[in-house]
Amino acid sequence: MEIVATLGQMQFWREAWRRSEKTVALVPTMGALHAGHLALVTEAAEIADKVVVSIFVNPLQFGPSEDFSRYPRDLALDMEKLAQLGKTEVIFNPSVEVMYPGGTSLTTVTVAEMSQVLCGRIRPTHFAGVTTVVTKLLHIIQPDVAVFGQKDAQQLAIIRQLVHDLNFPVKVVGVATVRESSGLALSSRNRYLSPEQKEKASYLYRGLKSAEILFRNGERRAEVLAAQVKKTLAQAELCAEYVECVDFESLRQVEIIERPVTLALAAYVGPARLIDNITLDPGH
Ligand code: PAF
Repeated sequence: MEIVATLGQMQFWREAWRRSEKTVALVPTMGALHAGHLALVTEAAEIADKVVVSIFVNPLQFGPSEDFSRYPRDLALDMEKLAQLGKTEVIFNPSVEVMYPGGTSLTTVTVAEMSQVLCGRIRPTHFAGVTTVVTKLLHIIQPDVAVFGQKDAQQLAIIRQLVHDLNFPVKVVGVATVRESSGLALSSRNRYLSPEQKEKASYLYRGLKSAEILFRNGERRAEVLAAQVKKTLAQAELCAEYVECVDFESLRQVEIIERPVTLALAAYVGPARLIDNITLDPGH
């Protein structure tokens, strides 16, 4: 496993793999790796010959009052986890100066509409930060496949749209959310939670699952499903920032579910803003 910090070194590896006709999968991360990330790496290794994991805490996707400076960083531990898994060829770990010479990027890439709904309403610049850095990573690494978690369903839908609209020659693969036995979705931000807060946080998935039961029994009104989620959250004294049913691909709000939708939510549990979602598909 190589650790690479410069564009030149990364391009050296990419060229070598092109010459030896190896396919390449990219797993973009911000580090603080957990089992959810390792599931992405495992999937990437199933699909491609070589796996690159990028570890870069991207300042562009954090708002001014968000947790950029205190976002967990532990490269040594991340390397250990990836080495133990044994499926990563290169870790691309550039500095902010390498990714944004001079500290910023005058050019940004924005996927309109989709970036302003759900989390985008509260974090208006977040997804432009994500799509800008993902665009750069796709140009630098030129992978055949890029792997993302379904946990960040809005991010995944936006990246699919980005790749489609800008004709990136890359296949985007989504991987199912990895959960603790309580149902809590793994997230780097879970480490901000006390044991009691973790117990409360498990109600996020419980809420989604309780709405899924109604859906399986034939309920198709988005409003009723969202109300069911909120009712479950209230049992843990949680108040969601949003609970919404949106079209799986376009992220447009849905009133009656006739096509696959994402039932998504965000809520603060103590200091951590957590998100979760499930897919509801009337065809299944
Ligand atoms: O999902 C993440 O960790 C980040 O948003 C990503 C895709 C690595 C871009 O910085």
